[in-house]
Amino acid sequence: MCGIVGYIGSQDAYSILIEGLKKLEYRGYDSAGVALVNGSRLEVIKAKGELEQLENKVGAKFPNGSTGIGHTRWATHGAPSDVNAHPHCCCSGDFAVVHNGIIENYRFIREWMEEAGHKFQSETDTEVLAHLIKHFYNGDLLGSVQQALAQVEGSFALVAVARGKNDQMVCARKDSPLIIGLGKNENFVASDVPAILQYTRRIYILEDGEAARVTKDVVEVFSPEGKGVSKEVFHIDWDAVQAEKGGHPHFMIKEIMEQPHALRETMRGRLLEEGRKIDLSELNLTDEEIASTRRVFIVACGTSYHAGLVGKYAMERALRLPVEVDLASEFRYRDPLLDESSLVIVISQSGETADTLAALRLVRGKGVRVLAITNVVGSSVAREADKVLYTWAGPEIAVASTKAYITQLLALYLITLHMGRVRGAMDASALEEGGRAIFRLPEKVENVLGRERELKRFSAYLSRWENAFFIGRNMDFAVALEGALKLKEISYIHAEAYASGELKHGTLALIVEGIPVVALVTQKALQDKSLSNIKEVKARGGYVFCLAQEGMQGLEEELDEVFYLPATLDFLLPVISVVPLQLISYQAAVERGCPVDKPRNLAKSVTVE
Ligand code: AGP
Repeated sequence: MCGIVGYIGSQDAYSILIEGLKKLEYRGYDSAGVALVNGSRLEVIKAKGELEQLENKVGAKFPNGSTGIGHTRWATHGAPSDVNAHPHCCCSGDFAVVHNGIIENYRFIREWMEEAGHKFQSETDTEVLAHLIKHFYNGDLLGSVQQALAQVEGSFALVAVARGKNDQMVCARKDSPLIIGLGKNENFVASDVPAILQYTRRIYILEDGEAARVTKDVVEVFSPEGKGVSKEVFHIDWDAVQAEKGGHPHFMIKEIMEQPHALRETMRGRLLEEGRKIDLSELNLTDEEIASTRRVFIVACGTSYHAGLVGKYAMERALRLPVEVDLASEFRYRDPLLDESSLVIVISQSGETADTLAALRLVRGKGVRVLAITNVVGSSVAREADKVLYTWAGPEIAVASTKAYITQLLALYLITLHMGRVRGAMDASALEEGGRAIFRLPEKVENVLGRERELKRFSAYLSRWENAFFIGRNMDFAVALEGALKLKEISYIHAEAYASGELKHGTLALIVEGIPVVALVTQKALQDKSLSNIKEVKARGGYVFCLAQEGMQGLEEELDEVFYLPATLDFLLPVISVVPLQLISYQAAVERGCPVDKPRNLAKSVTVE
């Protein structure tokens, strides 16, 4: 996620902006910039790379001005570069804006503005805001910003300043956080608390649709209808470390809690009309290419590989198309049978995993199409693939991947529906049913997140064991693998996942009195089969914690604990069923005093073989 800082007061703004942006570095970024209003001048300086590059560009002579805005960019539209860095200006240089979010209809607005004579500099979606503000400007900066935003579809947290208007900043938000820090003869705007904590602990939290005019002495907040709003002052009592995690004790739990937002951002502009329509035109895969595909290969590592397994079940069920899923470290040495009718999908949160990158290069070397699903714009995987579908989960700091996984599943589902429509494998009602169910996934994940306390009893039980099993059939087996990895990598409990039907072929020998077994029973068609496997475990004394779908009957008497998940289409359940597994792993690791965000021996991105 991008970082935003704004300052207006009596001090030099530049140093305050830079210090504030440094406090937001933990959010991850690829470029940065500042804009200072100094009388009739509006000075904009920006640079690709770390804040140090920006400071080097500024040099010893800091730009003057006591009104300014700053930004650290996490690229979404447009690769990391000086020109794509924020702040963005209109062609006259009269206005500068910084933005966090995604403007869904930026292509339409850009065409409109270009037809109106505006000249664009960057590839970003954000730049349209600066030209829109110029287009509507009538002397009132707040009114012009509100008129500009009325044209925008998408998410935004933005701050705008104007040449010659030292006395004010204007800010607004929708679906992307923004706070106003209240100082003495100075005020601040920021995307997150850490940026301003050293100056003030008193803040306004802007609500969706609200806009504000901020001067050094007065903050006026307005509703979407333009009415004045009196805001409650919140006092932040976090220390700086807590503030980076949004008040959570660890990045992992913060990122688990961000999953509904990550899903909404990733479907934004792609799943339209509440799921009735899908637009994946950004894939640049022609209908002919999709129709001529005879086999799909999904290649990844770790959690991304587990996402690929779910994708296999979904795609084969919906498209009746063969899908092979490979660990990248295996794929690259098995001389895979690829030809022009193959479509290879590589999945990588970081976009820098060495094995995945090597597999991608092997496929490209054979002249076969590669589609990348990645969370990092401008990453090696993104740059070297033919096509890219980005997840918009925002920076994932914890080593254990959570929100990236869930958005990878979403990306795979969107690709499945898109291919289903093009290949005629899914009729209109199946497509609409699937799209609408996907649209509602964030609220179902919110439901599970709100029930995290219900999991604590089992997590505490689990934390006292050195071994555990995860079992499931079909898609549940794919999610069981992810659950076992989460538990292993952060709690150091030796967890193994097995296809439920495989237990009797050896593993049952390890089921002893009380051993914790997580059983996933979410696929309605396999409920009875799964239940009989659970009975095998119970008969040998296992302690079974079951994840089932709301509405399933006859489970309680067989099991030690059942956690019912909100119902949805079976093939979408993995997005929901993985959440309790993430939470019990997190809770067990905390119970065992493990360094949750940075587990021993592991790196966030494995850039070596
Ligand atoms: C997942 O929790 C682990 N951190 C690890 O398995 C990770 O998924 C794997 O290294 C792949 O990383 P990537 O998605 O960045 O390629």
